[in-house]
Amino acid sequence: MAIYKNPWLAVVAITCVALPAFGQSAADTYSSVVSADGAIHVPEHYQEEMVFIGAWGMKGSGAEKITGFHNVYTTLDVVNHYQKTGEFLDGAVLIKELLGANSGRKTTGDLAWGGKITGWFVMVKDREDRFPDNPLWGNGWGWSYFDASDLNNTTSTNFRSDCLGCHIPAQKDDWIFMDGYSLLKKAN
Ligand code: HEC
Repeated sequence: MAIYKNPWLAVVAITCVALPAFGQSAADTYSSVVSADGAIHVPEHYQEEMVFIGAWGMKGSGAEKITGFHNVYTTLDVVNHYQKTGEFLDGAVLIKELLGANSGRKTTGDLAWGGKITGWFVMVKDREDRFPDNPLWGNGWGWSYFDASDLNNTTSTNFRSDCLGCHIPAQKDDWIFMDGYSLLKKAN
């Protein structure tokens, strides 16, 4: 084939074929997370294949005890792009995993650690208004929640009633609560 007259192109072609299908980039993740009609899914192996960017500890009302954790993941190219530009790459997938908490005394002190996963919130960056008629897409993102029992089918029906109201305090940061993600600091 003419293309392989240039040995560098051959190397690029072979490298692309050898890469695993998921988790390398926002584009790969996007295609495994979003169906043609805009339905969002939770990728099965996100813990191994995505980058952990931060955790939130949930305190019970009044008590000092931690009652749960929210762990947040994205892909490495999204991290790199954010550090460079201060913006989320088109197709960026953010997964917030909800966990219960266990607690007890360890040699470092009184500790809380992650328990069972109870569900996931997923957001997918959309700079092209890809699904204008889908009520789970809007304000530059796709939005969905999943119970732990079903990675594939969201229980959300409308991002405006199910998500947006709570995310208003984060509107200036493209609807994302940046306090929790020290990795996503724009490099000067
Ligand atoms: C009760 C308020 C509330 C609702 C409802 C809510 N969120 Fe959030 N969300 C938050 C807050 C606050 C954070 C950051 C702190 C935390 O995890 O508690 C957050 C964090 C997230 C994150 C991690 C990225 C970030 O912004 O920090 C994702 C992803 C997310 N939410 C998606 C959704 C989706 C999708 C929906 C609707 C299906 C939704 N949320 C509904 C309050 C809410």
